Amino acid sequence: MSTPIIAPSILAADFANIQKEVEMLNDSAADWIHIDIMDGVFVPNISFGLPVMEAINRHAKKPLDVHLMIEKPENYVEAFKNAGAETITVHYEACPHLHRNIQQIKNLGCKAGVAINPHTNIALLEDTIMDIDLVCLMSVNPGFGGQKFIENTYDKVIALKDMIEEAEADTLIEIDGGVNESNAAELIEAGADVLVAGSFVFKSSNPKDTISNLKNV
Ligand code: DX5
Ligand code: ZN
Repeated sequence: MSTPIIAPSILAADFANIQKEVEMLNDSAADWIHIDIMDGVFVPNISFGLPVMEAINRHAKKPLDVHLMIEKPENYVEAFKNAGAETITVHYEACPHLHRNIQQIKNLGCKAGVAINPHTNIALLEDTIMDIDLVCLMSVNPGFGGQKFIENTYDKVIALKDMIEEAEADTLIEIDGGVNESNAAELIEAGADVLVAGSFVFKSSNPKDTISNLKNV
């Protein structure tokens, strides 16, 4: 079984101590820092925006993996790149011109990710998979941390892995939502490359140990 990339989601961190939380991640086995941006329109919740992302970037020593749960992401991707994003992920459901959105992100020098909601069939990515650096499979409905993992995700990982191999693409598969120590191994086994974990990491008594445990499941 391959070693996963672990991307703790800062959404579950203590925002009153954001510098301390980012420094904890710098000192941990985390590979990336996952940044959830919610606009209150595409998803029924508002998280935080560019000034907070810039503050995180001032302290972060790990790549920032930005998940845009927003409408019209094309209006903001450049600002997020300037705020320190290494990967920028947009939602399939928010992008009628997905191919153009992917090219825009790549032309900025970032890795391009596409997230799909639990109800979205992976077959819809068949015509763009060659261009996508990362597919983020939502294993909860986006908008909130701390939700229950949707079991159907395992089958989606397996099918997506097949599609990627068939296309000879090098797209990474990221799982986002409800990831914990009891589903991590099965997700990696199924073909997941990146595990996002918010509540499971930050609400644990020892977040650094929790990150290492996820990395070594
Ligand atoms: C949900 C976000 C997730 C969230 C994951 O809309 O995209 O990244 O922070 O949090 P947990 O791990 O608590 O489900
Ligand atoms: Zn996310």
